[in-house]
Amino acid sequence: MPEVVDKLIEFHKLNRDEYAELLKYSENAEVRDRLSSEAVKLRKEYYGDKVFTRGLIEFTNYCKNDCYYCGIRRSNANADRYRLTKEEILDCCRNGYELGFRTFVLQGGEDGYYTDERMADIVRCIRRDYPDCAITLSIGEKSYESYRMYKEAGADRYLLRHETANDEHYRVLHPEDMSLKNRKECLYNLKKLGYQVGAGFMVGSPGQSIYTLADDMMFIQELAPEMVGIGPFIPHKDTKFKDEKAGTVDLTLYLLSIIRIMLPKVLLPATTALGTVDARGREKGLMTGCNVVMPNLSPVMNRKKYDLYDNKICTGEEAAECRGCLERRVESVGYRLVSERGDAL
Ligand code: SAM
Ligand code: FES
Repeated sequence: MPEVVDKLIEFHKLNRDEYAELLKYSENAEVRDRLSSEAVKLRKEYYGDKVFTRGLIEFTNYCKNDCYYCGIRRSNANADRYRLTKEEILDCCRNGYELGFRTFVLQGGEDGYYTDERMADIVRCIRRDYPDCAITLSIGEKSYESYRMYKEAGADRYLLRHETANDEHYRVLHPEDMSLKNRKECLYNLKKLGYQVGAGFMVGSPGQSIYTLADDMMFIQELAPEMVGIGPFIPHKDTKFKDEKAGTVDLTLYLLSIIRIMLPKVLLPATTALGTVDARGREKGLMTGCNVVMPNLSPVMNRKKYDLYDNKICTGEEAAECRGCLERRVESVGYRLVSERGDAL
């Protein structure tokens, strides 16, 4: 067994060169199995057989940004745009609460229609109606003041994938008006404000290498976020990456197990993108250290429009069906979906 494997398992951290070295073994069955069983051991130690569930409400697909990989980027004229009203969002929460969800994730593009005041008002209403639920926001890069307003209104958590921790790679994926520096600063600001923070990245995005991934591992190690969202990159037909290959399930699973070992208590979702590249991708994620699933609570009529990448799954089912389907999937690999907020330990 390579020395770096034992070192990660013993110390829960490595340096950049060691991560790059470890990433060279992603196709070695023995190494994969070792890391995966250690990851599962740790997740069971802290979370037993529990899988937390988050109700995802994709409330707008308008976005001022132009991330090159993203299907709802500003310059995609083929995107059929929509916004949910506060009442529609609250309806999603009501439906979700009845189904047992105790975390709502409001995700959307960076949409100027939702000013800080509107956002804070929506958060306050959810907080008032569902005092026992966690509220997670995932609405991109904002100022410290804006994040503070949402926090005071009642938001608990924030998901902001850093996308890549390597400057050059960041430029491959984003236009000039966006910067990795600002993205990282946002994550540190969110931490300072007391949010439970989620960072993360796409696996197999154009320009990614074991060296950029080693930078991702170093950044995650340094930030020590409460949550890490990673899923395969999947091309979207209306982007310049339409002919690129999707990220693989195997590399995603390998990275998931490394992240679980690095941060044993981390909240780690088995993502929809993982379920899109492989029909049993989410189950495989659960068998490699994941402990969260994020079924969709958005109104079915809008689901297809939140079209980040091609062939996204779960766009035709009602929320109740999604929950039932996931419950069965989770049970099929020996875990149990629970109705809890599922805060970071
Ligand atoms: N606007 C917010 C933000 O930028 O954080 C949240 C919405 S954004 C669509 C959510 C995530 O979708 C991104 O962080 C990105 O990693 C992921 N995503 C976008 N396009 C994707 C693609 N083609 N394949 C896989 N994931 C993608
Ligand atoms: Fe803004 Fe994708 S470019 S959500």
